[in-house]
Amino acid sequence: MGTSTIEKGTRDLVAEINALRTEHGAAILAHNYQRPEIQDLADVVADSLQMARRATELDAPVLVICGVHFMAETAAIANPDKQVLIPDLTAGCSLAATIQAADVRAWRATHSNGVVVAYVNTAAGVKAEADYCCTSGNAVAVIRALPPDVPVLFLPDMYLGNYLRRVTGRTIDVWMGECHVHAGLTREMLAERRAAYPDAEFLVHPECGCVTSAMYYAETEGDVAAGRTQIVSTEQMMRRARVSPARRFVVATETGVLHRLRRENPGKEFLAARETAECRYMKQITLEKLRDSLRDLKYEVTVAADVAARARRAIERMLAIG
Ligand code: 13P
Ligand code: SF4
Repeated sequence: MGTSTIEKGTRDLVAEINALRTEHGAAILAHNYQRPEIQDLADVVADSLQMARRATELDAPVLVICGVHFMAETAAIANPDKQVLIPDLTAGCSLAATIQAADVRAWRATHSNGVVVAYVNTAAGVKAEADYCCTSGNAVAVIRALPPDVPVLFLPDMYLGNYLRRVTGRTIDVWMGECHVHAGLTREMLAERRAAYPDAEFLVHPECGCVTSAMYYAETEGDVAAGRTQIVSTEQMMRRARVSPARRFVVATETGVLHRLRRENPGKEFLAARETAECRYMKQITLEKLRDSLRDLKYEVTVAADVAARARRAIERMLAIG
């Protein structure tokens, strides 16, 4: 198949998607890790926190979530009056899969006055057991907003949990889950990239296996003061890249963020800390599946009313902070 045929096929698909979006009054929300062609036609491209916020603000009866399942569930819980669709129901998250609602109940059984903070990368049933939800964009603010002197469980990401312990100085029980993509971004890789690119600024997601090491550089070598290392959510990476005086960046997270970083900052260079850091779940969403989703209004994501009501408290507290 020649290039022009492929391009024409893509153009036709995009035209179909645009027509169906208008017909249904739908809004398309894409996460920063989505395929470039999905990002390019979305109404909103953002991190988990902004996706959750925008889902609530948008005046659209149908929301198509181009992301993973917990993102669609979060949108459905916060927007019971909107129809929430995901183009592929099997787009999961290896981190969210590390914990179940029963695990949270077991911790509570031994910490009767404890507070549970659930990262947004969790199933609705887990959020329903939590007191607060958070994302990488507001996790520090959420921990700082908690009452002092109560036991805290942060779940399910151990790297982000350790980062929170260090930044807030608080004793926190941390669930030992990890994301297979971010765990592969190791401290050895960070050391090697620092040596190879001494002039670069490092944008590091707090789920990365190298986050403790990035903090070490920040504390011992003044990386943060020197503007050399930023530990940030994917949306904060976009903001930082815009305002930073650096010309070259090494980006430690899923490689989907490079598309927006490059498009929004044409004079700057962005390198993947690891080119193979791809989330296969995020990449399950394709133009064809998005077209089918809009055409057949599938796959609708709903959450049982009792679970949604309990999870909504934690999500609304998250949206109110930071
Ligand atoms: P952000 O909230 O930073 O977009 O991250 C979401 C995620 O799934 C990280 O892997
Ligand atoms: Fe989950 Fe990791 Fe994929 Fe993010 S990158 S959606 S944490 S599996």
